[in-house]
Amino acid sequence: MASRRNAYLIGSNQSYANRDRAQLRRQGLARVVRGVTLQSMVTDVHGLSLSGANGDAVRQFEAAQHMLRCFIGDPVGAIDATLKDSPGFVMGHVFKGYLFGLATEPAATEIARAAHEAATTLPANAREKAHVAALGHLAAGRWHAAGQALEDIAIEHPRDALALQVGHQIDFFTGNAKMLRDRIARALPQWSTDAPGYHALLGMHAFGLEETGDYARAEATGRRAVELEPRDGWAQHSVAHVMEMQSRQRDGIAWMRANPDAWTNESFLQIHNWWHLGLFHYELGEISEVLALYDGPVMGGQSAVALCMVDASAMLWRLHLGGADTGGRWEPLADLWTAQAGGVAYAFNAAHAMMAFVGAGRQKAALELLEAQRTAMDAGDDNAGFTRDVGYPMARAILAFGDGDYAQTVRLLRPLRHIAHRFGGSHAQRDVIDLTLIEAAIRSGNAPLARALTAERADQRPESPLSGLFVKRAGEITPAI
Ligand SMILES: [Fe+2]
Repeated sequence: MASRRNAYLIGSNQSYANRDRAQLRRQGLARVVRGVTLQSMVTDVHGLSLSGANGDAVRQFEAAQHMLRCFIGDPVGAIDATLKDSPGFVMGHVFKGYLFGLATEPAATEIARAAHEAATTLPANAREKAHVAALGHLAAGRWHAAGQALEDIAIEHPRDALALQVGHQIDFFTGNAKMLRDRIARALPQWSTDAPGYHALLGMHAFGLEETGDYARAEATGRRAVELEPRDGWAQHSVAHVMEMQSRQRDGIAWMRANPDAWTNESFLQIHNWWHLGLFHYELGEISEVLALYDGPVMGGQSAVALCMVDASAMLWRLHLGGADTGGRWEPLADLWTAQAGGVAYAFNAAHAMMAFVGAGRQKAALELLEAQRTAMDAGDDNAGFTRDVGYPMARAILAFGDGDYAQTVRLLRPLRHIAHRFGGSHAQRDVIDLTLIEAAIRSGNAPLARALTAERADQRPESPLSGLFVKRAGEITPAI
């Protein structure tokens, strides 16, 4: 399956490969005839030296990176095929390690560790050794150190697209909004429009601009990226984020519905992008649309990928908060989270696993998850801090909500609101904290707090039907005698 998908994508990107080949020749960096490199040192399209690779490996590596930049196809299959032919290709092993290291799943992390071990045994130049070190940090759960190591690489080599992209993803997983923007902004002057992968720089910069509140530039930059590469699912996603933050639901639906083939076909970001479309419908009160998206592209395939399960939990929890009938939808999702040990290896996931356990009424699994989180807080990795600061109190708050102890939910969530970025994710994802807090404030009968929180939300989203509903409900709370 992997090789078939890989072959499909390489085939569909033939013009891209030809462009790279032409650029390689134009730059005189490597001559490739029938897959044989005639120079001892090969370089990529940006002039970065690659150890242990021949010309074919370089082209395959670039194709795999293109897949990752667009979040399409089968980059794992592509790099596996490359490594089969070029087992000494150190950046091939590093690339594979990054793919698995960013998956936030224990089994994937094991593969990242194996890739790191393989890479450490190989001859490498200074840049590649720095990548191997960064991968080592990531595979050991040292997210911040990995992000710093990749920052250093990109400072030295601003056209190292992989260092920029993996660093950008680490900024996302560590909730570092400023670096989501600045890691890319630093490198942009060294890039030009015709450089392969430039669209991805714009797509990433757009996301960083959005997460730092520079919405106009974010939208323009993201739209430009999609113009350059319509398959760039991350850039598509960056513009969706702008519309989410600006509460432009109709614009958001139009943006996502305009060319869905581009961001869904062979995309492994599509579930998250479908989730974004669901957010727009949810805010408008179009619950049947949200349920249709949940039953269709979001959960219809029963994805057992943690990051997709996060989207499923986040969508179903919003429906649960809004009092929608979710039927038996929580059960299969809770089963998936159980199989992943409640996502405890990454605190952001665990909070979303708790939603599923609460939704499915699985008290035992919920309590076991809290116990596993207490153990995780004693580990020496960065997830210990993510869990201690945000993940554990948030999971307790969700469980309290499920138990009907809304006052306790309020007590636990209020201190989290302003530090929640520490366990990663985006503003749009972490909005579930505010939504849960508002609902808990209303249900607990805390009229002053409910009025304050709903007024705050209405100020940010004045046209939103959901804001209006919240304000109305807060105003109808009967004062306690
Ligand atoms: Fe997103």
